[in-house]
Amino acid sequence: MDISTLLDYDLAFTDALHASFSLLILIALSLTSVAFSLRGLAGPAGVPAIDQRASGLRLPAYIARNLGPYSPYYRSGRYQLVPPGCVIDQVNVLQRHGARFPTTNAGKRIAASVAKLQDATSLSSSLTFLRSYRYRLGADDLIALGAQESYGAGREAYERYSTLASEATIPVFVRSDSSPRVIASATNWLSGFYSQFGGQGAPTPLVISNAAGSHNTLDDKACPLAPDLSSHQTTWLATFAANAVARLNAQAPGANLETNDVLNLMQLCGFETVYSGKMSPFCGLFMKEEFEAFEYYYDLDKYYGNGYGNPLGAVQGVGYVNELLSRLTGNLRYSLSDRTQTNQTLNRNSSTFPLSGVGVYADFSHNNQIVSILAAMGLQNGTRLGESEPPKNKRRWFTSRVVPFAGRLVTERLKCASGTFVRLFIDDQLQIPTFCPGHDPLTGLCPLSSFVSSQAYARNNGDGDWEKCSARPSAAHGT
Ligand SMILES: *[C@@H]1O[C@H](CO)[C@@H](O)[C@H](O)[C@H]1NC(C)=O
Ligand SMILES: *[C@@H]1O[C@H](CO)[C@@H](O)[C@H](O)[C@H]1NC(C)=O
Ligand SMILES: *[C@@H]1O[C@H](CO)[C@@H](O)[C@H](O)[C@H]1NC(C)=O
Repeated sequence: MDISTLLDYDLAFTDALHASFSLLILIALSLTSVAFSLRGLAGPAGVPAIDQRASGLRLPAYIARNLGPYSPYYRSGRYQLVPPGCVIDQVNVLQRHGARFPTTNAGKRIAASVAKLQDATSLSSSLTFLRSYRYRLGADDLIALGAQESYGAGREAYERYSTLASEATIPVFVRSDSSPRVIASATNWLSGFYSQFGGQGAPTPLVISNAAGSHNTLDDKACPLAPDLSSHQTTWLATFAANAVARLNAQAPGANLETNDVLNLMQLCGFETVYSGKMSPFCGLFMKEEFEAFEYYYDLDKYYGNGYGNPLGAVQGVGYVNELLSRLTGNLRYSLSDRTQTNQTLNRNSSTFPLSGVGVYADFSHNNQIVSILAAMGLQNGTRLGESEPPKNKRRWFTSRVVPFAGRLVTERLKCASGTFVRLFIDDQLQIPTFCPGHDPLTGLCPLSSFVSSQAYARNNGDGDWEKCSARPSAAHGT
């Protein structure tokens, strides 16, 4: 393969990672993953060198950018400098945790599909690697690349925004969902943000519980009656995986693979590669068109799971949007009027929901929750996705461009000569907020007052949708 077709991961902060890498490894690794060896890490003068398996990840772009939510972080655009005459005076980062192992259940399904192939009566040459192959990924937790993704993002946020503040460091307020991998991502981000100061002064993230019944704007478990529309992606899977099922069954007689096995083996290509840094042998079993179809499977999955395709998707993002409106305007009323997922005990207290003295707010969450928030705001809205084929025009929703591992929505507040504005980026892609009356189609600047008025769905608590989320809506809201 021509080297120019390879995607070289732009982890721009590799040097700075040298000093902190062993710390990051500790944060990333769980007991199940001690197999990630530290051999080869010792560099000159006792400084741990970066393991190429974590930092030098090289994969063809057609794979790396078509893994849906399992894609390693990549920028989908180029960050834009501040327009002349403006200064950024507040930043809101909403970020997904970094790369992780498969979830426990997904790992079991993947291992079962591998076992089916290994039980075949014979294997063709492309599959002989299976004779000595052993599935050995951990479950649920961050991997080293995931720690780096969050650390690098924190470091970049400091470099991007510290020059805007008069103090040596800008006050940061960080919240996290209570999943361990999300908390670790928040902590890694803070290590990066404060790396100039040897990590000194970093605050402790405010952890918000995702236990059943909790009110948490960083988790999507509060809408049990949201319809299950997964038939869209399973219909698509049956279409696109049919060739691969036939091909692999011919190469492995007796394996009796089904369409779900193809899904699992394609996932394994992604998970194993981001973990080991070397292309997994499973990647070579599938073609470019099949990876594009795999991405579309996850486009359907997120779009109909929490996004525009689900009638109760956007409402699950309303709480965060109301919190954002309060931060941007410095006015508590939006958060206090929220009747959806906000925790009113936390948000009435200026220690746990500060509205002054903060330059950067950073919130750490999960892909599904971020998808709901984008839908509540009106971002990435395009042609409806069909399950028989991807739309040919105005296809806007690509899961890997929005919520890859460590994917992020950044909302900046800018003070300009002509007033106060909001600017939005998803994974460094400038958003042109067409829903915002008076937005500038080139700079993406949206007047703050227009932004607030554009968010009527959130300000109206989802126009009645929240009440459809649970059987006893009156009990759904408390403190
Ligand atoms: C709100 O947060 C507080 C503090 O963490 C917690 O004790 C309380 O249970 C939360 N309330 C809800 C409804 O989640
Ligand atoms: C506000 O939150 C802080 C930190 O959790 C807590 O110590 C304090 O008691 C709270 N204040 C009130 C009035 O509840
Ligand atoms: C998304 O686009 C559709 C079609 O243009 C439109 O009807 C809908 O209101 C939009 N949703 C949001 C939240 O902007």
